[in-house]
Amino acid sequence: MKNAHDRRSFPAESELALAAAAVRAGALVVFPTETVYGLGADAGSEEAVRRIFEAKGRPADNPLIVHVLSIEQIDGLVDRLSPAAEALLSTFSPGPLTLVLPAAGSVPRAVTAGLDTVAVRIPSHPVARALLERAAVPIAAPSANRSGEPSPTTVAMARASLGDAVSHYLDGGPCEVGLESTVATVEGSRVVVLRPGAVSARMMRDAVPGVEVEYSTALSGDESPRSPGLKHRHYRPRARVVLFAQERRSATVELAELLAVTDDEGPVTVGVIGVGDECDTIARCVRRGVAALGGPLRAGRQGSEPSVRIVERRAPSLEEYARYLYRWFGEMDEAGAALVVAHLPPERGIGRALRDRLERATGGAVIS
Ligand code: TXA
Ligand code: MG
Repeated sequence: MKNAHDRRSFPAESELALAAAAVRAGALVVFPTETVYGLGADAGSEEAVRRIFEAKGRPADNPLIVHVLSIEQIDGLVDRLSPAAEALLSTFSPGPLTLVLPAAGSVPRAVTAGLDTVAVRIPSHPVARALLERAAVPIAAPSANRSGEPSPTTVAMARASLGDAVSHYLDGGPCEVGLESTVATVEGSRVVVLRPGAVSARMMRDAVPGVEVEYSTALSGDESPRSPGLKHRHYRPRARVVLFAQERRSATVELAELLAVTDDEGPVTVGVIGVGDECDTIARCVRRGVAALGGPLRAGRQGSEPSVRIVERRAPSLEEYARYLYRWFGEMDEAGAALVVAHLPPERGIGRALRDRLERATGGAVIS
């Protein structure tokens, strides 16, 4: 496969210079990272950071990630950098890893939402780095969407969500990872992953001997989650999403029941997303479910054929499933899908992060 860098667009120098000047002047800039697009502001300016919360409609108790170019720059933001944190950063940065560390007193309260920790990340996307270099200040940035919408993985998605609330949009092409960074706390040699991402617990364990890494068990809706973002309602597509684990007779029956309650006129649109052959299996079960129904979907319609339209998005790998997930959700809504049946991937590699985002999008409904 061609390297994703080859397909990336890169803004003109004049555009980068304008965006960097805007950051320094306290304005907001949308920029690409390797995970998702970010909505950035000067992390040292309380006022600039507040503009992020306004533009997103983000609850003030949800802290932001500060983006920097290097480990040296992190030194100015944190109280201390433990050996384990430093080892993790030097192994996985620049890249999709965010560490929650004890904050230096100079970090504005708006960034940390009043916590005594600050989340920091060194992005690898060349456009993000070019912006950080030219702005020459740390940049606080959440995902570039209004609260409750999906994290944008193209500049068009960011623009559709934020519109004129932001004057500068930098286009760096589609994001390579497609899911938000791994967020982890480090206390001594103990690492707790608050949000799974492309850097998995196993990768951290393998790379830094002696660190203990576990996944947080805090669920969304938890009263005092360690990561405030987890308690806020996560994006869900308009369509009902169910996760498909395994082909069984019961799966067909459950699908038939779900289809029976969709009483739209005309063919019912069902989305199918997943990796490779899994999509064939799911589509087969959907068709069988429709045939088994015989009733509502058959009767009252012009022909005697079951009327269902299957819109399929198929990824050749788990990595591509992750890369396109948010875009596909948007496309399913545009297609008017009443139901999206998503392949529940295995937990290996990026699979854990994919399952996390899929479960948040569905409320955890799995059929098998
Ligand atoms: O990939 C990403 O991380 C993207 C790109 C733009 O870097 N950013 C992103 O930001 O996803 P956001 O704000 O959508 O998600 C940041 C998450 C939230 O769940 C937030 O609660 C958590 O990180 N977080 C930030 N600071 C924290 C802190 N001090 N302690 C615990 N969790 C923190
Ligand atoms: Mg977000």
